[in-house]
Amino acid sequence: MATNRKDAPARDDAPLPPRPLKALVIHGPNLNLLGTREPEIYGSTTLKDIDRELVRLGAELGITVTTYQSNSEGAIVDRIQQARGHADVILINPGAYTHTSVAIRDALSAVALPTVEVHLSNVYRRERFRHRSMIADIAVARIMGFGATGYYLALRAARELAPPQA
Ligand code: DQA
Repeated sequence: MATNRKDAPARDDAPLPPRPLKALVIHGPNLNLLGTREPEIYGSTTLKDIDRELVRLGAELGITVTTYQSNSEGAIVDRIQQARGHADVILINPGAYTHTSVAIRDALSAVALPTVEVHLSNVYRRERFRHRSMIADIAVARIMGFGATGYYLALRAARELAPPQA
């Protein structure tokens, strides 16, 4: 007897649709002031606007985006530690901690999630002390100099970096 494929029960071994990728976006110190902070360097887009666009773009791309900002190094370390088992990829702009924080580097190494380092400005066009990044060699990729657009580019690339786990 021919079965009508439309009415056939779902097979147990049929592949499940992929679950959405989960991206954690972390903004470091002083990035809460975006919009008013040195707009000639960092642009006039506020952090709220960036986060809103990241969530919207994520929905379009099938990525669940969680955003977090802190001015405190320890709080950022705590947030990275919590990402283990909850995020597939981390996008991080560590702000000034980029240049100093062994603790943030160690936390990223510990959770071992693919990480993209994002900077609004091109740090290599700025003071020498900004040329050193404590996370450059553990990041999968780095993006800088595109202003807020850099976050959106990083999110688009995230899918290539971290296919969602079943
Ligand atoms: C920054 C660059 C850092 O040197 C600076 O301390 C920041 C922002 C950027 O996004 O361009 O706070 O990470």
